[in-house]
Amino acid sequence: MTIRSLFHTPVYEGDLGDAALVEALLGMAHTLAHDDRAGARWSREHRYKGYTSYASLNDLPLRDPDAAALVKKLDRHVAAFAKACAFDLPKRLKCDSLWVNILKSGGMHSGHIHPHSVVSGTLYLDVPEGAGGLRFEDPRLPLMMAAPMRSGDAPEALRPHVTITPRPGMILLWESWLRHEVEAHGGKSERVSISFNYS
Ligand SMILES: [Fe+2]
Repeated sequence: MTIRSLFHTPVYEGDLGDAALVEALLGMAHTLAHDDRAGARWSREHRYKGYTSYASLNDLPLRDPDAAALVKKLDRHVAAFAKACAFDLPKRLKCDSLWVNILKSGGMHSGHIHPHSVVSGTLYLDVPEGAGGLRFEDPRLPLMMAAPMRSGDAPEALRPHVTITPRPGMILLWESWLRHEVEAHGGKSERVSISFNYS
């Protein structure tokens, strides 16, 4: 008997491998949270518990050499992921947005996708104990009308939700259509990350 596995959903887990850059980017994130008033206002108005530069600064790699250095490193990770996905691309994927997220205790980010992009991802900078993980959802879930629940010990590939617990320096990449959410942050200090889109 053969059971084929069809419709694979790849998620890339890597490491930046540069503790000094993680430290420098953490400094950048805290400076932005302090200085970027438009971002602070947007976060407040949209009830983002903490700070994000998502809607206020769209040129971080031009503003900050550490962000530029990060994009250079991310390019290699995204190229490796694109290869693993067997994408047939006319040219290399390019970073078109990159933003900082500082989540305070109790903050979360409900399920969403990243429209108009091909690959999305996050680099984790500071992950205190109790910080929420990144929870991915099986994109076929809306079709599973009468599908039974899976047993508690079901293999990861058969689970409808999979949560990855981040650590500083970890890079996660996924196809931008894959729905995901940031679980509630139960830690005391801030959970800091940088997210990005490639198209
Ligand atoms: Fe996201």
